Amino acid sequence: MTTSAVLAGLGSYLPPRRVSNEELSERFDTSDAWIHSRTGIRQRRWADVGVSTGDLAYEAGHRALKSAGLGLGASVDAVILATTTPDHPCPATAPDVAHRLKLNSAAAFDVSAVCSGFVYGLTIAASMIESGHAERVLLIGAETYSTILNPEDRTTSVIFGDGSGAVLLRSGTPDEPGALLGFDLGSDGSQKELICIPAGGSRQRSTHLPPAPQDTYFTMQGKKVFATAVRRMEESSTALLNRVGWSIDSVDHLVGHQANLRILYSLAEQVRIARDRVVTNIEQVGNTSAASIPLALAHAAEQGRFKVGDRLLMTAFGGGLTWGSAVMTWPDVSPS
Ligand code: COA
Repeated sequence: MTTSAVLAGLGSYLPPRRVSNEELSERFDTSDAWIHSRTGIRQRRWADVGVSTGDLAYEAGHRALKSAGLGLGASVDAVILATTTPDHPCPATAPDVAHRLKLNSAAAFDVSAVCSGFVYGLTIAASMIESGHAERVLLIGAETYSTILNPEDRTTSVIFGDGSGAVLLRSGTPDEPGALLGFDLGSDGSQKELICIPAGGSRQRSTHLPPAPQDTYFTMQGKKVFATAVRRMEESSTALLNRVGWSIDSVDHLVGHQANLRILYSLAEQVRIARDRVVTNIEQVGNTSAASIPLALAHAAEQGRFKVGDRLLMTAFGGGLTWGSAVMTWPDVSPS
């Protein structure tokens, strides 16, 4: 029998500070009515000053280990951190997280695919397991977007939140509940400017000029992103379902990137899946980018929404532009 990656543990963490739409309405020319009707978001969490992405990643990673019946210092072959907001431009944040989890000799690296990062990471982690390079991989999606939001940009400031989610994948077989059964990834760099932090990398540094302050913040052309996001996730999901031979009617749960509730429902309409099979937690957490899908998985699992053997379709879209989808069956795990 072929080897598959199997989900064996699931953890999530949200920083305690809740930022409501009302609080943002005091700071920006906006309102709860606008934010909720345009995005589906009521509140998000923002990390306190001094708390980094690595700190959030550690918490979710530790919880995923515990959920898998493991602990600090467990035998794990690789730690992959999907993030847009690493602790430093260099080095990657994953080795520090691995060290703090006492997974000291594990391979550790970051994946940079913005909101698609978790699905990219799943594909890499599963490939490492399927090829025999790893028995166990800890994949974490973690973000502190509050550190890169322009305090003068009401549009991005109301959308993004901080948080982390993690899965522990182990070597298993495709017939086991929890098996990851297929992937689809894509990109279109010709539209890189739609989601971008202009400064801080070699492109800006090569000019030897200091960056303009506004160029150090996250920027997004929301309207253009909206239509492309729906189309790319629909195409990716459909291609993957065809490849693995699943009909959309056989999918129990669509776990899409929580970018905007209207995007999720447009996607559901395009792929023809009923809204009650769409997993959503954006109302409570906002768009948490690479942490979005593992947080949505953890929150739905905590609510008892998934049954063992249920079929899940995950799909994401983000800066790059990048997109990706993955399918799995649901295992007997309790999130921590
Ligand atoms: N409060 C009140 N008004 C706001 C606002 C806010 N927070 N943000 C923008 N507006 C205003 C705009 O200035 C604009 O005003 P104008 O018509 O007078 O110029 C109006 O609302 C409409 O702006 P627009 O950008 O067309 O809104 P939208 O309906 O497209 O919604 C987003 C904006 C960002 C919510 C939406 O485009 C979106 O979700 N895009 C995709 C984001 C995404 O998926 N990212 C994925 C990768 S992370």
